[in-house]
Amino acid sequence: MSSINYSEKIPNNVNLSEDRTLQRALEQWQPNYLSWWNDMGPEGSQNFDVYLRTATSVDPQGWAQFGHVKMPDYRWGIFLNPAEAGRKIHFGDHIGQDVWQDVPGEHRANLRRIIVTQGDTEPASVEQQRHLGLTCPSQYDLRNLFQVNVEEGRHLWAMVYLLHKHFGRDGREEAEALLERRSGEQDNPRILGAFNEKTPDWLSFYMFTYFTDRDGKFQLCALAESGFDPLARTTRFMLTEEAHHMFVGESGVSRVIQRTCDMMNQLKTDDVSKLRAAGVIDLPTIQRYLNFHFSVTIDLFGADESSNAATFYSSGLKGRFEEGKRMDDHVLKNDTYKVLQVSNGKLVEKDVPMLNALNEVLRDDYIKDSVGGVDRWNKVIEKAGLDFRLKVPHKAFNRKIGPLSTVHISPDGRVISESEWNANVDQWLATDEDRAYVASLMGRVVEPGKFANWIAPPIMGINRQPVNFDYIRFN
Ligand SMILES: [Fe+2]
Ligand SMILES: [Fe+2]
Repeated sequence: MSSINYSEKIPNNVNLSEDRTLQRALEQWQPNYLSWWNDMGPEGSQNFDVYLRTATSVDPQGWAQFGHVKMPDYRWGIFLNPAEAGRKIHFGDHIGQDVWQDVPGEHRANLRRIIVTQGDTEPASVEQQRHLGLTCPSQYDLRNLFQVNVEEGRHLWAMVYLLHKHFGRDGREEAEALLERRSGEQDNPRILGAFNEKTPDWLSFYMFTYFTDRDGKFQLCALAESGFDPLARTTRFMLTEEAHHMFVGESGVSRVIQRTCDMMNQLKTDDVSKLRAAGVIDLPTIQRYLNFHFSVTIDLFGADESSNAATFYSSGLKGRFEEGKRMDDHVLKNDTYKVLQVSNGKLVEKDVPMLNALNEVLRDDYIKDSVGGVDRWNKVIEKAGLDFRLKVPHKAFNRKIGPLSTVHISPDGRVISESEWNANVDQWLATDEDRAYVASLMGRVVEPGKFANWIAPPIMGINRQPVNFDYIRFN
């Protein structure tokens, strides 16, 4: 006899109370998940009552229930967007056929790999961010950090649901392994590079949630097109949560910039040492952080030419961003796409079969989207009457995978020598000194309505609460 009331304990719309096999699998996994959360979740915060939103259903009224809860008691739920009657596969070799409700045998290994790779990023980011609560700039920000963390936990549940429900024994083994890998650990690291980097300070956190959570958005959008219907439906619901994560990043960086600009105007200076003496983060340092997070994140889209990407698309497993809005044949066998290569010391474009370039297609869509927020950051600087402008570096800059990783490229897209790289890299990427300075600013501000000196308050609070609301009750 089971002692768990499933709709209470695990909010869901997948009929969990009637699925004994799934119950058994989740019952075994849940305690391990909770012990992972205890070990690797937000440090020293398990007893706080945090003003969190919890998804309790997928309809607009139900999915954002706000209230103070202790994070280990957060009701991590399993939600799929409602099924669309008569949905067809709308790209690749199976175009026009009914979507799959069960895993097609011939695509099983690839699907599992896609789900595991996505699933692995979710706990990874919680691990990367676990120390940040100790140096929060305000209660408001601390609450946002925890909201992001519990939702990444829920995203892990979403992927584990698919593994348990559709992949039998090897799915259960993969679900366990998702709790065993650790971000940055030598012996058993997370699968993707950016998810093994540290998130040591709050500027890194805002950059991460702006740039790297946006990678999540694009991957989820591509999977939301999948012919494997349960994957499409679960990723669609995840996207509703992802929007808040990117908001935390965009508004966070924006508030850092605001504060710096205010100080620049107050002191009438752009002198970095004076601004640092005044305890704000100078704009060139923000630019170097931006360069780092942008370049590390665009590596996540994979090699610019990839036969796996072609297979995932042609098999109907992973579409393009906004596949349904595109006006081509959705098979792409006769199309080409331009990727960059180095020839005679210069970056040149070459045409490659579109199917093999789908990682690059998604990366380019991502880049278009991420530039938008950088323009909005520049508006803050412009409004303050200052000349400085932030810039997204060239997409070939500081790459660690693919053919572009074999050469040095400047932020403005020139192939340069190793010596030119070495002479300038300190102006292009955050240095140890930059990071030490930013780290030196990270105190802990938790009085309601108070903010650290290096960041401006937000314009409004969460869920129409005032900015000085008690978002966290420290017990
Ligand atoms: Fe996520
Ligand atoms: Fe996220």
